[in-house]
Amino acid sequence: MRTPVLAGNWKMYLTPAEGRQMIEALRPLVEGVADREIVLCPPFTALAAAADAIEGSNISIGGQNVHPAREGAFTGEIAPPMLKALGCRYVIIGHSERRQYFGETDATVAEKVRAALAEELIPIVCVGETLEQREKGVTNPVVEIQVRQGLDGLSPEELSGLIIAYEPIWAIGTGRTASPDDAQQVCAFIRSVMARLAGEGAQKTRILYGGSVKPDNIKELMNQPDIDGALVGGASLKAESFARIVRFEE
Ligand code: G3P
Repeated sequence: MRTPVLAGNWKMYLTPAEGRQMIEALRPLVEGVADREIVLCPPFTALAAAADAIEGSNISIGGQNVHPAREGAFTGEIAPPMLKALGCRYVIIGHSERRQYFGETDATVAEKVRAALAEELIPIVCVGETLEQREKGVTNPVVEIQVRQGLDGLSPEELSGLIIAYEPIWAIGTGRTASPDDAQQVCAFIRSVMARLAGEGAQKTRILYGGSVKPDNIKELMNQPDIDGALVGGASLKAESFARIVRFEE
């Protein structure tokens, strides 16, 4: 009942021309796939080229970050209406790299989520524990705080419409994927936290897994009842590998 979402996060890779080339190669490979949402999140500089390249296809685009203000003197930042004007439907918020290198906190995540929703952008809110936290056995409480504080003050309807991406930090770009069982356990736990916040609406919230997702592990991840898709880094840069992920093909 939840439409799967396969989202690619290009991070700080691909120029406008390279992004366009990737999308041109991807389009025929995912043509006709209608039962899932296919999303690409290019760097800001490639968004316009990507918007043009997806025209008339089943692919949508999103930003990788957003500023909480609608406009203002914030050098180097991008406001929600700017993403919207470029044709973005989604925006990634609170990626662990933003938290780790750019000082984002659950409070800034909450502000950005509200600002994105006000512009009718669908937030993809990232949460996840460090290796140290996992080894200490505190994954659930860490993730619960991120979910509760990052989504603070939202209505049940807003909560059910957004997307959460569970990305264990130790699995990002390391080739080390959480086992499907481990990923399922945390995603089910996140849904239980969402149920306390949104009631029945939590059944509608899409929860993605991210962290070294590849064509050879997507199928097993998608077989888990609480995993509704994937947020893909490295393997989303090449049309062939991302298309296989979108199609759940090994
Ligand atoms: O947002 C996606 C991400 O952080 C995972 O990256 O390269 O491990 O798929 P990667």
